[in-house]
Formats: sequence, structure tokens, C-alpha cells
Amino acid sequence: MHYTFEIERGNFTDAGQASSSVKRTLKQLGVAPANIKRTVVALFEAEINAIAHAYGGTIDVDIDDQKIVMVVADQGPGIPNLDLAMQEGWSTASAEVREMGYGAGMGLPNIKKNTDDLKIESTVGVGTTVTMTVFFA
Ligand SMILES: Nc1ncnc2c1ncn2[C@@H]1O[C@H](COP(=O)(O)OP(=O)(O)O)[C@@H](O)[C@H]1O
Ligand SMILES: [Mg+2]
Repeated sequence: MHYTFEIERGNFTDAGQASSSVKRTLKQLGVAPANIKRTVVALFEAEINAIAHAYGGTIDVDIDDQKIVMVVADQGPGIPNLDLAMQEGWSTASAEVREMGYGAGMGLPNIKKNTDDLKIESTVGVGTTVTMTVFFA
């Protein structure tokens, strides 16, 4: 099964739509709750990052018996130093983003923890593509 979602620039109100929708689908498929939780945590953080740090983009989700693969691709400034970005507590979030309760610098570390495979491709000045896989067994 393949699903696509749009992430709209600056739209914090709709953030989490993709992860909520994926959650419902995985529940219907009878995926184990622990795996649903990991998937939703990772996808939500990636959605928020595409809004908080970039200008929106697209989400592609593929689900089969064994796994879910989620590709969050944004247009944005890119990540100049990935090692730094992966560190717990590192954040360049704006004051505005922090006021909304985001920007603790735990998103990427939590994505890493909650996925079985994580690939981040980023080009400064162009954008970032985060590919996350969670296995169901
Ligand atoms: N999609 C993205 N585009 C540009 N920079 C990003 C993106 N995702 C993460 N970053 C950078 O990595 C940092 C750490 O991200 P994260 O761990 O999610 O923490 P937070 O979002 O709370 O700042 C961000 O502050 C930002 O500098
Ligand atoms: Mg984040």
C-alpha cells in the first residue's frame, strides 16, 4: 500500500495529519501497538521538522506485511552538520517554534531510537529527505 501526504509550509495546525492517518491504518491492519507507537513518534517528529526547519514538502509511505517505509522530503535550508543535528538537545529552532513547544532538540535522536533504519540526505540550500523504516516483526 502506498500513501502520500503534503506538508504545507508553516502549517503547524495540520502537523501530525500524516502520523494520525498512518496510525489508523496500522491499527486496522493489526500491527502490534509497540510498532505503531514507534512509527507514529518517528513520523510525527519528521513532519514537525519539515514545518519548523523547512518550507514543507511531501511524505511517501509504503506499507507491506513486514514493514513501513516513510520518506519525508522537504524543500528548505538543508542540514549543514548532520552529526551535530543528531545530538540530543541540539536545536536551531526559532523562538516562535520554541513557544509552540517544539525545539527541544530531541526529534532526530528520537527518530533514530524509534526506527530500525534511518537515512538522512540533505543538501544545503535545497532540502532534506529523511527515510525511515520500521519492521513489524
Ligand atoms: N528538515 C530539516 N531541515 C533543516 N534542518 C533540520 C531539519 N530537521 C532537523 N534540522 C536541524 O536539526 C536540528 C535538530 O533537529 P531535532 O532533533 O528534530 O530538534 P528540534 O526540531 O527540536 O530542533 C534542528 O534544530 C535543525 O537545525
Ligand atoms: Mg525536531
